Amino acid sequence: MKRGRITGQAKLAGVLGHPVSHSLSPVLHNYWLEQRNIDGAYVPLPVRPEQFAIAVRGLQAAGFRGANVTIPHKEAAFALVDEPDLAARLSGSVNTLVFSEDGRIQGSSTDGFGFLESLTADGVDLTHLRQQGPALLFGAGGAARSIATALLEQGFSVIISNRTEPRAHALVKDLSQAWEEHTGNSAPDLSVQPWATPESVSGDISLLVNTTSLGMSGGPDTAWMPDLAHASENLVVCDIVYIPRETPLLKAATQRGLVAVGGLGMLLHQARPGFRAWFGTETTVDAATIDYVSDALKCRA
Ligand code: ATR
Repeated sequence: MKRGRITGQAKLAGVLGHPVSHSLSPVLHNYWLEQRNIDGAYVPLPVRPEQFAIAVRGLQAAGFRGANVTIPHKEAAFALVDEPDLAARLSGSVNTLVFSEDGRIQGSSTDGFGFLESLTADGVDLTHLRQQGPALLFGAGGAARSIATALLEQGFSVIISNRTEPRAHALVKDLSQAWEEHTGNSAPDLSVQPWATPESVSGDISLLVNTTSLGMSGGPDTAWMPDLAHASENLVVCDIVYIPRETPLLKAATQRGLVAVGGLGMLLHQARPGFRAWFGTETTVDAATIDYVSDALKCRA
């Protein structure tokens, strides 16, 4: 008789969030586990903020290999871990916990990695791109910080533009300080551009990234897009929004013949380091994975 895939030796991981029901991570990780016939499980873990630390210690005590962390716990996770990686120290947040056998907790921030991997997977040559001009990021939240960090590490100049301009200045100040402290390098090439309406993208920009919820279905403005009239014909346009798969911004970029990269790839690639650490196997984000997760998204729409 064929044994069930999950046995008494199953490797366990999950995602801590509040709420967590919207998370796609269980769908993705369990798909990869099935595909690879791995004896393991990945479960949603709804945890209130005041119980976050106790829940993490409980998972550790119960033999979990680790967990992902999503809103609103990413900063609390950073405060809790024993060994934050460089990306975690620069972003001040953690989305992946790995429990070591000696009881220590390693924490990493993999959003920036996911972002860069999704660009590379879509054929973008980052070395070439950064020589073309600065990257312009719309937004100044946690996603902007992770992406800005990853781009600075790749040698890009980064410009932040945010509706609430003081938040953009605060991000630049905070990240610059963390950069000098944790990398030992001088201040990064990071600056602020005012948020104009319609937000205009100048011809020297090589990479445009929307890190806000603008353009997201059910978000603040589903039709939003910046003005691409003066953009370079080599501009690469990214949107971290993935519902819909093709946002108005991505559609406009494609219509102009620009390279357009959607947000689903970042979501899938950021999951890879955790899966490898907990379940001991590499993953790929192939067409079948993208189709599977896209179908799960459609079922929710
Ligand atoms: P996250 O951590 O996921 O990036 P966040 O901290 O809530 O999320 O940031 C959301 C971003 O979307 C912010 O940059 C926010 O701009 P403000 O700082 O001005 O709030 C941006 N955003 C949300 N709604 C917006 C809107 N209607 N117009 C412009 N920007 C908006």
